Amino acid sequence: MPHSQEDLLIYLDTNRDRFIDSEELMERFSLTRTALWRSIRLLRSAGYQVLSSQCGYRLDDACEVYTAASLQAGLRGKAADYRVDVRQALMSTNALLRKMAQRGAPDGTVLIANKQTAGYGRQQRVFFSPGGGVYLSLLLRPNYSPAELLALTPTVAVAVVDTVQTLTGRSASIKWVNDVYLDDRKVCGILTETAWRADGQIDYVVIGIGVNVLPPVGGFPMHLEPIATSLYPIGTSPQRHRSDFVVTLLNRLAELLSCPASPEIHASYCRSCFIPGRTVMVISANGEEQPAVALEIDDQYRLLVRYPSGKTEALMSGEISIKPLRY
Ligand code: BTN
Repeated sequence: MPHSQEDLLIYLDTNRDRFIDSEELMERFSLTRTALWRSIRLLRSAGYQVLSSQCGYRLDDACEVYTAASLQAGLRGKAADYRVDVRQALMSTNALLRKMAQRGAPDGTVLIANKQTAGYGRQQRVFFSPGGGVYLSLLLRPNYSPAELLALTPTVAVAVVDTVQTLTGRSASIKWVNDVYLDDRKVCGILTETAWRADGQIDYVVIGIGVNVLPPVGGFPMHLEPIATSLYPIGTSPQRHRSDFVVTLLNRLAELLSCPASPEIHASYCRSCFIPGRTVMVISANGEEQPAVALEIDDQYRLLVRYPSGKTEALMSGEISIKPLRY
């Protein structure tokens, strides 16, 4: 989309509460009346519902504008320093952003895709990424202490939970370490990838966040159906759900990431984490499974568990799966 047309779209997007007079648009964007008509026609043919009346033009409330400039315009406070880039389709926002980081992309670069063809999660698992979801990666070049780095992914999970609460009024919960759940099903996955310099300092961190915002057209694949959900139910009319989510999330992330090791964030994480008190299956790297009772999350975000033998262990990472059994 040409710049001038994108500017017009953003102006309509940020002034949805009123019909904007043609004269105002013509003057603001240095357009003749014919050029304005042409631009409006082009926006409509690109799928944007531009309403017109005697009072001028207005973007329909339900019409989503998921462009870099529109998302950028919603960023406030520390998030205003982020630089957003939106692509139609990518293999993986994390993979591309890592390459961009190696070529010198700055701190605060945000890469978003409408869909991913090779999205991945922890242990290189496929992350199903059809249209309707938010697939976002954020590049940081932080001076975090080891404690802050440890707290990074949990902090992102807290930002996602807060965003869900703000936008839907619903309480999402966290499956240690970094999956966000709604109604006992996964709605969001987070993958943090860190690159180190030769001197042992952090070179960059790429935080990838994938959220099932709208239900996928045709539903989730059979293997995900029982374990995945979306933020909004089937039949939700296409509104500005993804853009609202991205803007609210980035604003919250920027606030929380300035101090990821704070006790307040730790307390929020523990309040939202549904694992303590449950019986879990601890799966080690070699696939060995052991049942245990999850006791609590310690101040380093380790999960304390007690095995049937009475032995306790602080798990730093690894996979756990929940068993309904209690003992
Ligand atoms: C997980 O569930 O294990 C983490 C999933 C992380 C998915 C996000 S989507 C945006 C970014 N790009 C990727 O390829 N992965 C992350």
